[in-house]
Amino acid sequence: MIKVSSNIKLELIRKSHAKELFALTDSNRKYLRKWLPWVDGNVSVNETMAFIIRSIRQNKRNDGFNCAVLYKGKISGVIGLTEISRFNNRTEIGYWLGEEFTGKGIMTKSCKALADYCFKKLKVNRIIIRCEVNNKKSRMIPERLGFFKQGILKHDGIRNGRYLNLVQYSVYKNEWK
Ligand SMILES: CC(C)(COP(=O)(O)OP(=O)(O)OC[C@H]1O[C@@H](n2cnc3c(N)ncnc32)[C@H](O)[C@@H]1OP(=O)(O)O)[C@@H](O)C(=O)NCCC(=O)NCCS
Repeated sequence: MIKVSSNIKLELIRKSHAKELFALTDSNRKYLRKWLPWVDGNVSVNETMAFIIRSIRQNKRNDGFNCAVLYKGKISGVIGLTEISRFNNRTEIGYWLGEEFTGKGIMTKSCKALADYCFKKLKVNRIIIRCEVNNKKSRMIPERLGFFKQGILKHDGIRNGRYLNLVQYSVYKNEWK
């Protein structure tokens, strides 16, 4: 568990989160599907449970993990490390929030706390965040936190059969404040 503030906590995702996490996804389907490729395939609590089981296994392999972002005790979204490359000593952060939890700084603060954890506890040398070029709200998070824009990755992702252009942000341990 990572305590971000008096109202925000990051809890390693576990099976008992499945029902609440699916309910949040289901009630934000229209909002999330604009940016997240997995939303349309997440049609029941079974898919949320399968995601949680994959995350638990990933964590056991030391290859990344996901956390429920708790705001005042309720699940507001997810933040995680999509991979940890020990060979290159770097990791990548991904995140989403239910629409009703946006506009409060929850994700910027959570991302800062997770980045601190990555540098201090996991001792990685570099953290990457990749956002769709036109996902302004997502891009603001690394920009607020002082990540550096490294460039545009053309056709680096795919959603609903369309290739996506992503902007890559990164910060190195010796740049992190
Ligand atoms: C990306 C996403 C998490 C950003 O949500 P968000 O609410 O803008 O981000 P934060 O929680 O950091 O909140 C920032 C907002 O709170 C405001 N805010 C209030 N207090 C704040 C504080 N103490 N610190 C920072 N921001 C604060 C900011 O001004 C900003 O609002 P604005 O955009 O109206 O200026 C959300 O848009 C989302 O989940 N989108 C769909 C999924 C997605 O795109 N995921 C990313 C894929 S790469």
